[in-house]
This record gives sequence, structure tokens and C-alpha cells, in this order.
Amino acid sequence: MPVCQCDESRPRFPELEAVLSEYSLIRGSLITILQKTQDIYGYLSEEVIYHISERTGITPARIYGVATFYTQFNLQPTGKYLILLCEGTACHVNSAPLIAEAISQHLGIDAGQTTVDGLFSLSVVACLGCCSLAPVMMIKGLSGEETYGNLSKEKALAILDEIAARDNQAAASDSQAAASDIQAASRDIQATTSDNQAAAQKDQQAAPERQASR
Ligand code: FES
Repeated sequence: MPVCQCDESRPRFPELEAVLSEYSLIRGSLITILQKTQDIYGYLSEEVIYHISERTGITPARIYGVATFYTQFNLQPTGKYLILLCEGTACHVNSAPLIAEAISQHLGIDAGQTTVDGLFSLSVVACLGCCSLAPVMMIKGLSGEETYGNLSKEKALAILDEIAARDNQAAASDSQAAASDIQAASRDIQATTSDNQAAAQKDQQAAPERQASR
């Protein structure tokens, strides 16, 4: 009978251990735990919510209640770039809703959704902490996050277009590099095959001499 190789003593979410050790017993720290969890995994999966529930003693229903109440939390995997558009008071009175509408139309998604190509997710959040730059959006990508202030509809859309263009370019150079690697590998194989053929030919030519010398 096969023996289970699972290591029961290993934490299921090792990256989350430090957060849970620090906050799981502190009352009122659920939002902090969820924020830090989302920072690590990009979204709050069902598995991670149940894990947090086990460790904190807070019911999954309550965690879901909090996670769905605040728009900053994502329950689905996000795109490569997560747009956090601020709709806090300062941004709201400076046309953030119009910018949100323009982004939604431009990308074809509503807040909480991801574009079909998986490039952008849109999330509407409360104050990002830089109200003097209102209206503001933050974009989180693989290489970090960047905040853009004093937005207009046009400026916001231009920023998104530029990110998409940069991403396309990077993808094109990656494919070119991969194609060069494949070409180099195929040249290596050809060279090895020719070497092997030459060795076999030499061996064949030497065969009569070997026979004569016996
Ligand atoms: S209200 Fe938008 S950054 Fe503060």
C-alpha cells in the first residue's frame, strides 16, 4: 500500500506563518491579516480563508463578510497588473468616479474583474494615503508598485496603454530570446550528429585495416 509522503508538520501556507504568528491572537487584526495575506498571494483563496479561520478562531463566514465588504480585497486571482483606483473622499471629489468609468470602458471590465488577456485587474479602493495628489491610482505589477497622481481620464488611459505596450515589447523580446536558444540548441544537436557521423565513417574505413592486421 502506498505510504503518504505528506509532511503533516509542515505549515500549509509557509509564507503566511510570520503574519499569523504575529497577529492571530490580537483582537481586531483581521483586516491587517487579510491585507498582508493578499500582499503575499495576490488574492484571498478559499483555502487561505479557511486556514486563517483555523488559526484565528474567526468563522469563515465572518472572514468572507469582511473580505467582500472592502473593495480592496480580491477573492479571485488578479491580472499581471492590479490597478488600485482610489475613490476616497479627496479623489472622489476630484473626478475619480469618471476616471473609474473611463478605465472600465477602456479595458472592458468592471471593478473586481480581470481583462480577458489576464493583463489588468481593476479594484476600487479607499484612500491610498496621498490625497494631495488626488485623484490617484496605484498599479501593482511583478516588479513592484507605482503611484500615479493628478490623474485625468486621458492621463490614466495613457498610463495603461504604455504599460500594455511595454509588456508586449518585453514578451516579444522574451520570445526572440527563446527562439535564439532553440536555434542554438538545434545547431548543437546538428554539430553532435555530424561528429557522430564522421566518427562512424572513420570507424568504417578503418575496419578493413583492422581485419587485415588480425
Ligand atoms: S482619498 Fe485618494 S489618496 Fe486619499
